[in-house]
Amino acid sequence: MDFALSDDQRMLQAAVRDFCLKEIAPTAERLDSTSTFPGEHLPKLAAMGLMGMTVPSEWGGAGSDMLSYVLALEELSAACASTAVTMSVNNSLYCGPLCRFATEAQKARYLTSFARGEQLGAYALSEPSCGSDPAALETIAQREGDVYYLTGRKNFITNGPHADAMIIFTTVDKTRKHKGITAFIVEKGFEGFAIGKIEKKLGIRASSTSEVVLDRCRVPVANRLGNEGDGFTIAMHTLDDGRIGIATQALGIGRAAYTVARQYATERYAFGQPIATFQAIQWKLADMAMKLEAGRLLVHQAAWLADQGHPFVKEAAMAKLFNSEAANWIAKEAVQVLGGFGYLCDFPVERYFRDAKITEIYEGTSEIQRLVIARQVLKELGG
Ligand code: CAA
Repeated sequence: MDFALSDDQRMLQAAVRDFCLKEIAPTAERLDSTSTFPGEHLPKLAAMGLMGMTVPSEWGGAGSDMLSYVLALEELSAACASTAVTMSVNNSLYCGPLCRFATEAQKARYLTSFARGEQLGAYALSEPSCGSDPAALETIAQREGDVYYLTGRKNFITNGPHADAMIIFTTVDKTRKHKGITAFIVEKGFEGFAIGKIEKKLGIRASSTSEVVLDRCRVPVANRLGNEGDGFTIAMHTLDDGRIGIATQALGIGRAAYTVARQYATERYAFGQPIATFQAIQWKLADMAMKLEAGRLLVHQAAWLADQGHPFVKEAAMAKLFNSEAANWIAKEAVQVLGGFGYLCDFPVERYFRDAKITEIYEGTSEIQRLVIARQVLKELGG
């Protein structure tokens, strides 16, 4: 689906596709099998303007629209899902909320160099006892004069071990539930900040994920993002954007799995003919192709709505839900098309199969996406 793309968007898509084929895809297997963070790629992504794509140029970004962002992210995700999430977290979960909610002084210090890709950002919302229900988070922020002391533990933090700064969500008063949630920009060098356990994962093994431990972490009042109590809204707005990104990541993984399965089906013979001549395989390829087209339309629609300034909460959730479930189905069927070879690490479909799973979990599980969609459609009825 590219009927709605401008010439500039098509050129960007072609340039990123070419770059990913030459530079990113050939390294994906090595990075995954050795769980190596894709730091070697970040300067190249930065040089192409991909680390702060939707950030205005005055703050170091490329000043692109969301549709351009998803075009680039699909290419990156098809090449290496780990590199893609490293890039998307910096773009949408770190630079995004700073663009929207930071003061000019905060932007000068914490946005420009991150949007240029000279530094890396992260987003710390989840905790060991709350992921889907962030209103229940327990990390406490206590103000003493011009300083807040943050105490608690964050987990599942993408980019955590490599981030120079991150947005950390806390509560200033747990009894106020979501109205007590307060966000801070925290540098890795702040007193009381430490990286905890580095996680080993089923998929996206080259992306880094860790705990963050805050032991009376000393954060100046000037680093509060928004006012006390604004944190929940900041977190939710940020996840709305982020979900378009994860939908795109899933789309890219699904596309990569489909591409391998289709090629293999034309080359592998069984019973004297290519397996692509059998209806059993054709139906799988047909369903894969259809899910990818439908998923891409949902992603582009959500991105377009965001670009127009229209509400897109429902559409972002639909795009993420549909594409993440589609990617898991496509990757599973791609393994099946390749049979025994699909189960081996010699072919990339086993990596796609592992990488796809996380898209049904992070930035809101599929169950949460259904909840978000249901609330929106009932609201449309006045229900
Ligand atoms: N955009 C803006 N504001 C929103 C919003 C949205 N999408 N959803 C809710 N809000 C606002 C509401 O309007 C309401 O505001 P008021 O108080 O002013 O009325 C407030 O937030 C509370 O809303 P709800 O009562 O609906 O909140 P809730 O507690 O029922 O939760 C939820 C709603 C949708 C379930 C939400 O908790 C949610 O999205 N949960 C999933 C969290 C999530 O995605 N976690 C993933 C962690 S990040 C990650 O994965 C890290 C990584 O590194 C990749």
